Amino acid sequence: MLALKQLLKKENQLISATISKEIARLDPVIQPLIRHSLEAGGKRIRPGLTVLVGKAFGCRAQGLYELGCAVEFLHNATLIHDDIMDGASLRRSHPATHTVFGPKQAIMAGDVLLAASMLIIIRQQNMSIIERFAEAVAKTAAGQVKEIQSLHNAQMTADQYMEIITGKTAYLISSASEVGAVYAGADGDRVAAAAEFGLQIGIAFQLVDDALDIAPEEEIGKPTGGDLREGKFTPVLERYLESLPDQERETFCRLFSQGGLSEEHVQKTVLAMRALNCGEKTRKLADAHIALAETALEKFPPGVEREALFKVAHYIRTRKS
Ligand code: IPE
Ligand code: IPE
Ligand code: MG
Ligand code: MG
Ligand code: MG
Repeated sequence: MLALKQLLKKENQLISATISKEIARLDPVIQPLIRHSLEAGGKRIRPGLTVLVGKAFGCRAQGLYELGCAVEFLHNATLIHDDIMDGASLRRSHPATHTVFGPKQAIMAGDVLLAASMLIIIRQQNMSIIERFAEAVAKTAAGQVKEIQSLHNAQMTADQYMEIITGKTAYLISSASEVGAVYAGADGDRVAAAAEFGLQIGIAFQLVDDALDIAPEEEIGKPTGGDLREGKFTPVLERYLESLPDQERETFCRLFSQGGLSEEHVQKTVLAMRALNCGEKTRKLADAHIALAETALEKFPPGVEREALFKVAHYIRTRKS
């Protein structure tokens, strides 16, 4: 794991330098908002993926870091908008952008990041990459809308849940991986393997994000119990419901569907979920997707980067924040 951290640290420095350079090109009025979001850090998993996949396919061009920067801009746009929609006040252990600048400016900052990300890719003059980015934006937004339309639905099926998380999270991670391979000039089969690798670790990533939703705020840098508070039906809640006697389950589901859970009830339920290991049980669901990701990775050329990508897959399953 140390080797992965060292490898990503080096790549991260180059990605951060590109991010700073690209922010400096933006209108000065918007820069403080963008810096607030991007300088709070984050794990930078998506740009790291773009660079590692590109390198795994033999690319060494600086353009890879610009692509990574575009992916991270896009990701941050979705986070700024996500925190407004989720009513979340904390992001990366800092006040969320909308709580500092207000929702109106934050919405515009997200739009600027989306456009800035497109401008970076357009400079590369690769239509195929432009198309993939635009599709990623559209799929992510559609996934978020599906989630909003399913809030407070205690009858959500496993298929519906999978469709939501694939749209809102996995598709962008898949694209982050895929564009690295496209940029490196990999053949069709290998581009498909890169997309599949990203898709499967992306699904695992959101399952683990949902598992982490009941972890302490100091560890995750986001509000604990946000999903329950917002009425999201995730596997964590499903595991909790399974443990309740029929009568209690019915009462809970009725309140959940009516949006009537008090803050006290949310806090109490989070503690019960922790005691019942609902987070770990949710993480287990990620295993099958990590295995599929590893199968896709077998199609990559062997080398340092492929080894690092195996470690990325393992990290996603076990991460603590
Ligand atoms: C958070 O993504 C949003 C999800 C899709 C779950 P990350 O957990 O990658 O956020 P940062 O960039 O590391 O803060
Ligand atoms: C985030 O899902 C998905 C996108 C940002 C597109 P969540 O709402 O679960 O992400 P967090 O937990 O706020 O990071
Ligand atoms: Mg959220
Ligand atoms: Mg959300
Ligand atoms: Mg979450």
